Amino acid sequence: MEKIIIAAVDEKLGIGYNGKLLAHIPEDLKRFKQLTTGHTIIMGRKTWESLPKKPLPDRKHIVITRQKNFTSAHEQVFVVQSIENAFELCEKQHAQKVFIIGGGEIYALALPYTDILELTHIHQTFEADTFFPQYHDNFTCVWQEKHESYTFTRYIRVKPA
Ligand SMILES: NC(=O)c1ccc[n+]([C@@H]2O[C@H](COP(=O)([O-])OP(=O)(O)OC[C@H]3O[C@@H](n4cnc5c(N)ncnc54)[C@H](OP(=O)(O)O)[C@@H]3O)[C@@H](O)[C@H]2O)c1
Repeated sequence: MEKIIIAAVDEKLGIGYNGKLLAHIPEDLKRFKQLTTGHTIIMGRKTWESLPKKPLPDRKHIVITRQKNFTSAHEQVFVVQSIENAFELCEKQHAQKVFIIGGGEIYALALPYTDILELTHIHQTFEADTFFPQYHDNFTCVWQEKHESYTFTRYIRVKPA
């Protein structure tokens, strides 16, 4: 099972402010949809709460929380209490690919287990209160596609965590 992190980061690895994304980039949302549709997406409870429309269509969702009584009424949404439980559930469901979609706390928990990073580098620095963890020592860039205000990049793991 391939574990992939997908995130949009600014020049200082900022990813969010006040519970929201730093920027609205329609092409990035389109890429997010293209890559994740048909697969399982894993997220923290705060990112789940921040989704404007939920659940996202055609994707299984796994929400991580410490709250024992947290539930979701949606059929495609599963609630677990650790990143390890999230991956175990994906294995049980025979997922081929899982995408970790944030936020900061969950990226940090998932990074040591992750094979691939799909990062959108936004060519700007925003005011941010949530950050992507440092990854450069363990990953190398294997692909990039430059646009005027952002660059799509793919990194693969070169060194175990
Ligand atoms: N730029 C991007 O690509 C991107 C993507 C996603 C999100 N974001 C942004 O990131 C921000 C949200 O990130 P965040 O770091 O504040 O929150 P988060 O990672 O989405 O969720 C944090 C929550 O996850 C649960 N959690 C964390 N560690 C846990 C553990 N060890 N065991 C069990 N549950 C655990 C807790 O839920 P409970 O409190 O319920 O226990 C915690 O409050 C927002 O601003 C959002 O817009 C950006």
